Amino acid sequence: MSALSATHLPLPNRRQGKVRDVYDLPESDGGPPGGGVLLVASDRISAFDVIMPTPITGKGRLLTQISSRWFDLIKQWGVIATHLVSTDTSRLSSLPLEQRDTLAGRSMICRRCRVVPIECVVRGYLDGSGWNEYRQTGAVCGVKLPAGLRRADRLPQPIFTPATKEAVGTHDENIPFERACAIAGERLMTRLRDASIEIYRRAHEYALSRGLILADTKFEFGIPDAEPDPILIDEALTPDSSRFWDASRWSPGGEQASFDKQFLREYLNRLVDEGRWNKQAPGPELPPDVVEGTRRRYQDAHDRLFSNSN
Ligand SMILES: Nc1ncnc2c1ncn2[C@@H]1O[C@H](COP(=O)(O)OP(=O)(O)O)[C@@H](O)[C@H]1O
Ligand SMILES: [Mg+2]
Repeated sequence: MSALSATHLPLPNRRQGKVRDVYDLPESDGGPPGGGVLLVASDRISAFDVIMPTPITGKGRLLTQISSRWFDLIKQWGVIATHLVSTDTSRLSSLPLEQRDTLAGRSMICRRCRVVPIECVVRGYLDGSGWNEYRQTGAVCGVKLPAGLRRADRLPQPIFTPATKEAVGTHDENIPFERACAIAGERLMTRLRDASIEIYRRAHEYALSRGLILADTKFEFGIPDAEPDPILIDEALTPDSSRFWDASRWSPGGEQASFDKQFLREYLNRLVDEGRWNKQAPGPELPPDVVEGTRRRYQDAHDRLFSNSN
């Protein structure tokens, strides 16, 4: 199997995120009534908001499998509707068979939405930018927390810590809930906060039953064309958008054994310490052991969460 770094499909309005290539998908090409979008998860990986030049072969397939399983669960839980229509690439009638094969397993046919420009982050444990903010201010995104928490401690309850959604190449910024309301509207943000926390709670419980801690996660929401209510879009609860820890090895007070990008971040931080990278684009080529270590962690996250379950 070879890596997929980018796609160039004969579909309209191609745009590239850090990981996904997105196209408009007219109804006549296999989209939902009125047209939708096709999201293709490539094998690109980003860290510190920089896309690495070395792909992680198969990562896009794993992300798609993980996301679609969660979308099914979220639908079952009845928390909020999602944008996923189908992962069946045989619907993509206007594409040559060969292209459909390349896309199989890594593509989602979705309802097209106006993207709400807020990253809806939920944290049940303290790490990452939340931990950094807490150490400086005792709060995260304006949410005051008890004194004396250690890195990776569980919070008394999950907290909603929104961030702005910035363009490729710039960093998202943590903001208070009130600021998110000023940007996207209070009624909408209240709905998105409640839905985000509810999905987090249920997903945390599910992950724990499979031996993983879902420490934190990020959701995106959108408003479908010609509809008032927001739905869950993008990807959900993958190692790209979440921290997953090994529950049996959880030990607050430092770095945790993780099934996500943290392994790559640690490698990159060592390069930075050695003066070999400055966290700016272009990213460094990744050595084979870092590629394989990362791929294995994504595979392990998938297998632990979803193998042998229905
Ligand atoms: N249903 C949808 N309709 C329109 N845009 C979407 C939909 N789902 C996801 N997107 C957008 O598609 C892009 C997905 O690509 P990705 O690589 O994840 O981007 P990013 O670099 O922003 O993380 C994101 O910009 C996301 O907001
Ligand atoms: Mg994304």
